[in-house]
Amino acid sequence: MTQRFAIVTGGGDCPGLNAVIRAVVKAASRRGWESIGILGGYDGLLDPVRTRPLDYRQMDGMLFRGGTILGTANRGRFSAKTGHGEVRRVPEGVLQEAARNFHELGLRALVCIGGDGSLTIAQQLFEIGVPVVGIPKTIDNDLDATIMTFGFETAVTCAVEALDRLHTTAESHDRVMVLEVMGRHAGWIAGVAGLAGGADVILIPEIPFDYDSIVAKIQEREEDGKRYTLVIVAEGARERDGAFVTSGDGGADGEARLGGIGHVVADQIQTRTGKETRAVVLGHLQRGGSPTAWDRQLCTRFGVFAVELVADGAYGQMVALTPEGVAPVAITDAIDRIRTVPPDGELVRVGAALGISFGRERH
Ligand code: F6P
Repeated sequence: MTQRFAIVTGGGDCPGLNAVIRAVVKAASRRGWESIGILGGYDGLLDPVRTRPLDYRQMDGMLFRGGTILGTANRGRFSAKTGHGEVRRVPEGVLQEAARNFHELGLRALVCIGGDGSLTIAQQLFEIGVPVVGIPKTIDNDLDATIMTFGFETAVTCAVEALDRLHTTAESHDRVMVLEVMGRHAGWIAGVAGLAGGADVILIPEIPFDYDSIVAKIQEREEDGKRYTLVIVAEGARERDGAFVTSGDGGADGEARLGGIGHVVADQIQTRTGKETRAVVLGHLQRGGSPTAWDRQLCTRFGVFAVELVADGAYGQMVALTPEGVAPVAITDAIDRIRTVPPDGELVRVGAALGISFGRERH
């Protein structure tokens, strides 16, 4: 009998989703398995079920195509996030309806491509008998149990390109330029892009900042004859004892939409230093478009390995990048806690050694 299994993409989109789908479909088809896609995120498993067949011949061009051909949803009926990374139980009726439909489709397994929220849903489906395999996705790189998620490197590359461009215009005009990047609870994009793009100030959610330290850095540069400064700030960064800067409420989920900290920081810098300061919000440019070469190969490895897990019946597992290569880990290990930038870890120490300010007292 031909084996059929399904793929679902959940949560915010991310460069490389289609590259993963391609790898899964191609590797499965070589085993003689049929693949179908669940449309519009997990909600596609609810009545009325929405699916599409995925033939390996349709996978041409998917390696570099951005977005997800299956569509995705952040805040559907499954939503398992309550904010600040906390998760909750999906309503039992929703889980049961999805499980029933999954079994009626005659599927062998469900390959779930997602971040912490979507993998939490995957785990809850697994607990009620749906055979799931997870693939870690998020530009934020904040999933535990994997060295890296796919999409992160593409987002960092996008941010570094932006910093390079801001560098030359900042220098020409003797300005402070502030670049706001994504990163709700984890500052990996700001931290890594800041190092790679030569930022002078890096503000991340893990290190609440104070303006005196930022101003001191700008003044130090002035005294050194450097009349421009590059600041990179994660959307989830906040002033010591301050609140997140939001651009909208979270609706029923309670997870507020972040955004705006870049302009707040720029205003404060201009007021406190008198230097002309401008802010740029990179926003969804980080999430759209083609994955980088690194992400394409990672997506391909993750996709092929996920099919191997299905073949082995290793359900409740997620593929992860480990020092030994791609390996399975329990989904629960990945979602138990968010992986954040250690405030005194290597990234911060390397930055501090170069004189980068993280918006707090010197080390
Ligand atoms: O989780 C990934 C992420 O890019 C966060 O950094 C950001 O806060 C969020 O998604 C934005 O999601 P949305 O596109 O739904 O506003």
